[in-house]
Amino acid sequence: MAGPVIELQTTAVAVGGEMVARDPEGRVVFVTGALPGETARVELYDERSRFARASVIEVIDAAPGRVSPPCRHVGRGCGGCDWQHIDVSVQTELRRSMVADVLARDGGVVDPVVETGEPLAAAGLRTTVRGTAGADGRFAFRRRRTNQPVEVDSCLVAHPLVEELVAEGRFGRAQDVTIRVGARTGERMVLTSPSTAGVRVPDDVKVIGTDQLRKGRRAWIHEEVAGRTWRVSAESFFQASPEGADALVREVQQLVDRWAPEHTRLVDLCCGVGLFAGSILSEEPGQRVVGVERNASAVADARHNLADEPVRIVKVALGKWQPSNAQVVVADPARSGLAREGVWAVAETGAELCVLVSCDPASLGRDARLLGEEGYRHAGSRTLDLFGHTGQVEVVSAFVRDLQS
Ligand SMILES: C[S@@+](CC[C@H](N)C(=O)[O-])C[C@H]1O[C@@H](n2cnc3c(N)ncnc32)[C@H](O)[C@@H]1O
Repeated sequence: MAGPVIELQTTAVAVGGEMVARDPEGRVVFVTGALPGETARVELYDERSRFARASVIEVIDAAPGRVSPPCRHVGRGCGGCDWQHIDVSVQTELRRSMVADVLARDGGVVDPVVETGEPLAAAGLRTTVRGTAGADGRFAFRRRRTNQPVEVDSCLVAHPLVEELVAEGRFGRAQDVTIRVGARTGERMVLTSPSTAGVRVPDDVKVIGTDQLRKGRRAWIHEEVAGRTWRVSAESFFQASPEGADALVREVQQLVDRWAPEHTRLVDLCCGVGLFAGSILSEEPGQRVVGVERNASAVADARHNLADEPVRIVKVALGKWQPSNAQVVVADPARSGLAREGVWAVAETGAELCVLVSCDPASLGRDARLLGEEGYRHAGSRTLDLFGHTGQVEVVSAFVRDLQS
């Protein structure tokens, strides 16, 4: 059922990628499909007492930076990318300003230094896509705001090895379909839930169902990042693209070189398959690294990937970890952020530098405030566009312990 239609003006970008406006009563409205500084007719689809959500149905006065979505599936309702109507360079600046705003407002950081990091292509990089099986078992993304499938035969943001499976694969009646590739090794994998019934893909593709994972079967691909080969299993996290992962490693390494070049002990919190534990190098001999991770699949991969390195992987949830001493903590938590228990763990290591890799600006704001309470001063952030054509952003921040506090 259609909601009420009103006209309003957007002012700023909100965390998550919607634009902020106010309705005639002064209530905040989060608008999808807009840019800051636009006048538009919008349809309200979620009304609460303190705020509402709306989507643009007609732009009356467009802001500079509005473009026609480059992917034809946006017009068909595909919910995969929410910023295709925004020019790519404007997307980059909006992500930067979103992060600066949240650090100032929620993080309590005065005049935060937030820069844009090295540029990454907006299209053709993503090595993992998640969707469902639509009509005839074709790959489908979810329609915006619903669970309905939108079958697609191409994907602008996906790596070509992924896109080929999006176009040609058949996925039976799977509720969830994950396509994942190693862009630099050429290896490909499809994970379907609840089973692999009806899946048809080329012979080179490893196919596994969540029913088989539950029975202990495993499947993995390999990817190359930061000069190493990484085993990545079906249930392990890996960054959105090898180019993005390389950029993250370079950003983290630069901060470590600047603030703690002589460290010998590093902790990688939420280490996944060991990306930072195995890539961040000290100039000092005898470096020892501890990785902390709770996911069994990622722990097995990390131990395999770093078997020849002076790295110990501890399988434990952050809140139960007994912190070991370190001069540097690199933390790359899930969307919920480090939260109080993670920040406590950082502080207990005694580290002088915490490099926080955040995939959600809202949790970055909360973590920045908590780190501040533990004496860690925000020394700068850089944004990376790992998720082109979306309002998502990856942020690498340095927090330096102020021994005076
Ligand atoms: C964003 S990923 C980062 C992984 C890795 N740093 C990388 O770059 O590939 C977050 C990781 O944190 C792990 N994780 C989430 N919550 C955790 C917790 N409470 N304790 C330990 N690990 C956790 C997840 O399993 C996941 O591997």
